[in-house]
Parts: sequence; C-alpha cells; structure tokens
Amino acid sequence: MVVSSLQAVAAAQVAVPEGAGAPAPATRTVTILGSTGSVGCNTVELVAADPERYQVEALVARKNVDLLARQAKELRAKAAVVADEAHYAALKDALSGTGIEVAAGAQAVVDAAARPADWVMAAIVGAAGMEPTLAAARRGATVAFANKEVLVCAGALMMAEVKRHGATLLPVDSEHSAIFQVFDSERVDGVSRLILTASGGPFRNKTREDMARATIKEAVAHPTWDMGAKISVDSATMMNKGLEVIEAHHLFGMPEDKIDVLVHPQSVVHSLVEYVDGSVLAQLGTPDMRTPIAVALGWPRRIATPGERLNLVTAGHLEFYAPDPEKFPALRLAREAMRAGGCAACVMNAANEIAVAAFLDGRIGFLDIERIVEHTMTTVPHSRLNSLDDVREVDTVARRIASEAIQAR
Ligand SMILES: NC(=O)c1ccc[n+]([C@@H]2O[C@H](COP(=O)([O-])OP(=O)(O)OC[C@H]3O[C@@H](n4cnc5c(N)ncnc54)[C@H](OP(=O)(O)O)[C@@H]3O)[C@@H](O)[C@H]2O)c1
Repeated sequence: MVVSSLQAVAAAQVAVPEGAGAPAPATRTVTILGSTGSVGCNTVELVAADPERYQVEALVARKNVDLLARQAKELRAKAAVVADEAHYAALKDALSGTGIEVAAGAQAVVDAAARPADWVMAAIVGAAGMEPTLAAARRGATVAFANKEVLVCAGALMMAEVKRHGATLLPVDSEHSAIFQVFDSERVDGVSRLILTASGGPFRNKTREDMARATIKEAVAHPTWDMGAKISVDSATMMNKGLEVIEAHHLFGMPEDKIDVLVHPQSVVHSLVEYVDGSVLAQLGTPDMRTPIAVALGWPRRIATPGERLNLVTAGHLEFYAPDPEKFPALRLAREAMRAGGCAACVMNAANEIAVAAFLDGRIGFLDIERIVEHTMTTVPHSRLNSLDDVREVDTVARRIASEAIQAR
C-alpha cells in the first residue's frame, strides 16, 4: 500500500497552499517510459508546456522512431531509447548531431529507467513494463504509475520493492488518481468501500450477438476516453475494470470485497470512496487524461492543464448502473483471480495480453478474448509467486498456453 506517500500528499497539501506566498517549485528531472503512447504523449505535452520546470533525462518507446526523435529534440532529452533493436539505426540517424544519447534493446530500456530522474512516468503497455518500472522503484524514484498490468501480475512483490527502496507510487489511472485524491490514508479504518467507475465501453448497449460480430474498429472506439489500442479493447471487454480492481487492491490495501464497480457512461465522476459514517467522497472532471497525469507530475502541488473545465449544468444527467456480469465475464474472471491469489492474476493478465493482440491482428473474434483468458486460467496450474523470477516463469507459461489455444481455433 502507498500509505507513506498518501500521507505525504495529505500533509503537503496542507503545508503548501495554492497561490501567492507558496515557494517556487524546484526543477524536476523526468523520464517518460512509453513516451510515444497515449499517456506518454499527454505527459510530453504537459512537460513541454513548462520547460523551466522540467529537465528530461530519458524518453523510451518500442519502435516509433519518428515520434520519439521529435519528442527528444523538442524536450532536449539527454537520452532516447527504443526497445526494438531493429530500429536503433533509424533512431541514431534521426538524432545525429543533436548530442542526445541513443540506445536500443530491452536492457537499454531498463538502464534508461535507472538513470537519475526524480520522476518517472511508467506508461509502457503490458507486463513488458515490469523490469523498467522496478528499476525506477529500486532507486527510490517517484513513479507515476499508468502501467496497471505490472501491478496485476506482480502487485505484492512490486509494492514490497517500492517500500524497501523508499520509492513513491503516484496513481495515473483516472480512477485511482480520483481515489488517491479523496482517500484518507491516515485513517484507513474509516474507509468502508472504494467505488471504481467504468464508462461501460463501446458495447454497453450492445447484445452478446453484436459483440460476437464486433470489428476491431468498433472495439477500439471508446465512447469517452481517447486511449491506446490495448486498453481500449480492455475497456470494451471490461477486463480493464477487472485489472483496475486488482490495481486498487494493491495501491490502497483494500480487500476485493470492499472494491465495487459502478457503470457511469459520462465518465465525469472518476471514482468514489465511501466512509463508515456514510460520507461518500468523489473526484470529478472532464474525461481528460491530462488531469490525472498533472496530479502526478505536479505532486504535491497542483499544476494547470489546458483541458476543458467541467460544467455540471451543461453536463446534464449523470447516470450510474450496476455492471452486467453475464455480458462482461472479464470482471468475474478478475475477481476470481484475486480471490485465488498466487499466480492467478499474472496468468489472467498474460492470457489477456496475448488474446487482445490476436484480436487486434484479426486472428480471433472479440468474444474469443474472454474464452482464451478463461481457458488459460483453468489450464495453468496454481502456484505461489515468491519471487519476480516466479512471475516471469508463470507469465511465459501462460503466454504459451494462450498462444496455443489461439492457434488451435
Ligand atoms: N491511454 C490511457 O488513457 C490510459 C489511461 C489509464 C491507464 N493507461 C495504462 O497506461 C499504459 C499505457 O497505455 P497507452 O494507452 O498509453 O498505450 P499505448 O498508446 O499503446 O502506448 C504504449 C507505449 O509503450 C511503448 N512500448 C510498448 N511496448 C514496449 C516495450 N516492450 N518497451 C518499451 N516501450 C514499449 C510504446 O512504444 P511504440 O509507440 O513505439 O510502440 C508506447 O510508447 C497501459 O498500461 C494502460 O493500461 C492508459
């Protein structure tokens, strides 16, 4: 649980009031893992808006060399790294004469995260973000945490590393950022429930028959958020909310039965915390990822963002529904994985990553995603995760079983 950092944020908000009289913020060195993605680009935009405040240590992507090189030049980054070594020459070419260091490969990504930045945005998609996120945590950095798959597959071990090395985790997922802002970490026994809101995704009003025929274009067309392809498909299956329930459990130390999900199509109320006295505190805003990213980037201060402000008069009706477990079994699978403990969430996450990639490649249908995930969860033998090596091993086995199931279709 990130109690120490949550306590720090509460104290800092009291100690450093907004407005005149507050000391000028110190310069902050930042690294952005996954800078070319949806979260990464929003982070780059906020960092670029205040060049006096931020110095960029490293930017990391997988293979989008053109965008990475442009970002590195614009932000005058010290280093730019691609995970895919096949793109090293192109990146070196694009940055020649700039003095920006260039590197490629999985180890170079970890090395980039280990460079001495105060603040690291963890916005690589999938379990591929585990080693670099760990590298940042192990040197005690402040880690802005978007990469939920890492907490899903290795939550307890990751939180132990964060604690051991005195790192600080700041949630970036809009729901967890919302909870972070209204969660009384000094009196956790006063919290009775976390309520994560979910838009319901593009298939909220569709039938299972419609979903069976869903195209890639329909599945990634999220009604309220503009996000990367993988998380958009996860939102369409509602696996995203399952991953977020597990993420919330690790971040806030709440048990599975005290984390509820509420479908809220307008995505204005980003999540809520219920207290034992019946008070319910929520954080609201327009659906714009720049807000939760800014909460983490400016922390413990508030920084301005350019997005549209929330107008509750024009927002109209705000609706809330219970999720439909028959239509969206992914939520049930995630809760089963949590209750099973051990390797179950890691297996579920790995199978989901493989199945979503296969769907996005046009190799399986939309409803096959949940079938592949459930099949993998029931096939991989249950085991405990005692070390990060155990996580890597289980992740590999689950990916192989999910891939075989896809090939056998
Ligand atoms: N998008 C959102 O609004 C949002 C909201 C909340 C949480 N999240 C979470 O944030 C994470 C990122 O989501 P996203 O939507 O921004 O994803 P995205 O748009 O697909 O971007 C993924 C980023 O990771 C890079 N990447 C992928 N594999 C990599 C690897 N092996 N090594 C290094 N870099 C790698 C990609 O580089 P290339 O561009 O070169 O492929 C890209 O920069 C996910 O865990 C997601 O669940 C996203």
